[in-house]
Amino acid sequence: MNPEELFKNIISHSKEYGFIFQSSEIYDGLSSVYDYGQLGAELKKNLRDYWWKSMVQMHQNIVGIDAAIFMHPTTWKASGHVDAFNDPLIDNKDSKKRYRADVLIEDHMAKIMAKADKEVEKAKNKFGETFDEALYRSTNPRVLENINKANAIEARFKQALEDNNLEEVRQIIIDCEIVCPISGTKNWTEVRQFNLMFSTQIGSVSEEANTVYLRPETAQGIFVNYLNVQKTGRMKIPFGIAQTGKAFRNEIVARQFIFRMREFEQMEMQFFVRPGTEIEWYNYWKETRIKWHRTFGFGDNKHRFHDHLKLAHYANAACDIEFNFPFGFKELEGIHSRSDFDLKQHEQFSGKKLQYFDAELNESYVPYVVETSIGLDRLFLAVYSESLKEETLADGSTRTLMSLPFALAPVKAAILPLVNKDGLPEKADEIVNLLKYDFNVTTEAKDAIGKRYRRNDAIGTPYCITVDYDTMENNTVTLRNRDTMEQQRVAISELKGIMDQTASLSSLLKQLD
Ligand code: GAP
Repeated sequence: MNPEELFKNIISHSKEYGFIFQSSEIYDGLSSVYDYGQLGAELKKNLRDYWWKSMVQMHQNIVGIDAAIFMHPTTWKASGHVDAFNDPLIDNKDSKKRYRADVLIEDHMAKIMAKADKEVEKAKNKFGETFDEALYRSTNPRVLENINKANAIEARFKQALEDNNLEEVRQIIIDCEIVCPISGTKNWTEVRQFNLMFSTQIGSVSEEANTVYLRPETAQGIFVNYLNVQKTGRMKIPFGIAQTGKAFRNEIVARQFIFRMREFEQMEMQFFVRPGTEIEWYNYWKETRIKWHRTFGFGDNKHRFHDHLKLAHYANAACDIEFNFPFGFKELEGIHSRSDFDLKQHEQFSGKKLQYFDAELNESYVPYVVETSIGLDRLFLAVYSESLKEETLADGSTRTLMSLPFALAPVKAAILPLVNKDGLPEKADEIVNLLKYDFNVTTEAKDAIGKRYRRNDAIGTPYCITVDYDTMENNTVTLRNRDTMEQQRVAISELKGIMDQTASLSSLLKQLD
């Protein structure tokens, strides 16, 4: 399956099995807004729990909060979002379609780099084991030409962003001969900045003084509460505050399913450190987070770091963890060393001191902050797209397999009475009652057993537990493993222990040690 087909398949599978629906579908949907169905909500909750537990439960110096979505409007003045939370947009005059100018340029650079990679791939196939990739990349004229071309565009683009020179950004689009994917023309408007925050009115009178924003990030709820938490929780630096919750951005070019949405969920952690130690902690969190991503078992090549081209004026280091989605490597998580910018801004705008007294140094200071910020929906898409596959079996037949890590699967076990009579369904209910306190399990009696196995493979259920006539005699069941399809006979009393070891969140958390 090529990446485009795979992506289409992911979208239709997610709808067919109740993972994700278009929002308000009966009214033809609302663009770039999605609802999670019965299985999607479970998978999303498991991902959120995994993040929360690995951040909060596994770190003695990190606590979690749940701040409101609405915040005092001055928060967003202080954070810079009112004045500078903009995207550079450009319209194509023929198709009337609007694009993010930076995305057009970045996609163009990626295409040029893909040409170089293709050339390397061809040579690799030709020369086999003796092939020296590094040497080839640094000497082959065609590869070098493309790499240099992409680097030159990158340098020019970086300069334009640093100078906030929108005319130059447009000129790069013209010079690179970038065309609108819809109309195929180069008939572009000027590049304009567009604020991404949604606003609404609080109270009954619509005056500017009553304007509040739907938060565009959860981080500010942590910053404004940092002293409350530090004092009431008697936290000592270095310490972190974690939060998960909805964020809202009026994305103009919302696209790629749940990759870029207007309403989405973030999982953020702000780590407060002594000034001067922030780069050490930034590196610590880079390592810790990539290790976390690797526990999903997708291999070492699916994630990579991407250092930011343009550092925000308050950051002294920033990178993304990118994931190889079906449409290429894209940002999944951001790790930012944000200095004392946010807290200092809030001090200035609120007139309140936000200093921490460091007893070891016997001095007060505004802490520096290292942030980790990941989109839950984007993580969902990464895990979903990597897990969904069509598998050809030994007998030549195929099955749809959702090879989710066991601990994250929406349903951990399906208890299947072989026939819908003779007390077998009641026995299945007994097993459900045994396991339901620890695991989300289901029972279903309809359809042939093979069909029920296939359906559970397609939604990622790690175990199918079959209740047959022998079960009624000796309290044993057949335990079928989703991935290997191997079946073993086990006692009902053993089930919980097996599932604890292989399908519980703690079994995944242990991999972090
Ligand atoms: N507090 C820092 C912050 O918000 P960001 O890079 O703008 O940084 C962090 O966002 C993460 O939130 C991204 O890496 C991405 O996973 C997710 N995210 C951002 N915008 C999104 C959108 N429109 N739809 C889905 N996820 C989004």
